[in-house]
Amino acid sequence: MQRAREWLREARCVAALTGAGISAESGVPTFRGAGGLWRQFRPEDLATPEAFARDPRLVWEWYDWRRGLIAATEPNAGHLALAELERRCGRFTLVTQNVDGLHDRAGSREVLKVHGDIWEVRCTGCGRAGRDDRVPLPDLPPRCDCGALLRPGVVWFGEMLPQEVWRRAECAAREAEVFLVIGTAAVVYPAAGLVDRAKAAGAKVIEINLDATPYSEEVDCSLRGRAGELLPQLIA
Ligand code: OAD
Repeated sequence: MQRAREWLREARCVAALTGAGISAESGVPTFRGAGGLWRQFRPEDLATPEAFARDPRLVWEWYDWRRGLIAATEPNAGHLALAELERRCGRFTLVTQNVDGLHDRAGSREVLKVHGDIWEVRCTGCGRAGRDDRVPLPDLPPRCDCGALLRPGVVWFGEMLPQEVWRRAECAAREAEVFLVIGTAAVVYPAAGLVDRAKAAGAKVIEINLDATPYSEEVDCSLRGRAGELLPQLIA
C-alpha cells in the first residue's frame, strides 16, 4: 500500500478501469461470483441483440428491474475517492465497464463508459438517443415518438464498443504512468485488454479486488480487499 501510494502521488498521468465490484458496496449486484447476476440469469436470454429481437419486453423488464435496484443506491467511498483523485490529479481518466451511473453521481466529471449507460435509451428506428431516469418506466417495452422500439443504451454481448469512447480509453491506458484496476474480474474483452495495454506502455499497474483475478500475478501491486476501504487509503 505504501509503495502504491507513492507511485500515485508522483504520477502526472493516471487512469483507472472499474468494474462491478466498485458498486458492490453500494448494493448493486455484480455479474460473476456469489450472488452475481450471471448466476441467476443467462446473458444470451437478456443481454444480446438476438434476445432483444426475440422478446423486447422480457429484456426491458430485466433492465427496468436493474434500473430500480440502482436508483435505490448511493455512491460509496470508493466512487468518491476516484472523484477526488480526478480533482487532484493533473491528468486523470476514468474508464468504467459499469452502466449504473454511480461514478457520475459521486462527482466524477469525465467518465468513459465503455459498456454504455443504463439510464440512456436509443431508438432502434431513427437512432435518436437520450436519457430517461424514470423508475419504473411507464410502458414496457418503451417506444420512441417515431413509433419504433427504444433499446437500453448499453453494449450487449456481440456488439461493438462505442468507438470514440473506446479510442479515448485505449489512449488513456497507453499514456498512464499509474493504471488502477478496480473491482473487475478482468475477463471481458476488449475492456480487460486495457490492463495489458497500460502494462506494455510501462505503467505501474495497481489492482484492487476482493479476490485474485487473471491479472493478479502480473500487476505491480495487487491489493486484496474492498474498494470502498482501500481506495480512500490509497489516495489519503
Ligand atoms: P464481475 O461481476 O465479473 O466481477 C466483479 C469483480 O469485483 C470480482 O473480481 C470481485 O472479486 C470484485 N469485487 C466484488 N466486490 C468487491 C469490492 N467490494 N471491492 C473490490 N472488488 C470487489 O464484474 P465485471 O468485471 O465488471 O458486461 O464484469 C465485466 C462485464 O461483464 C460487465 O461490464 C458486464 C458483464 O457481462 C456487459 O454486460 C457487456
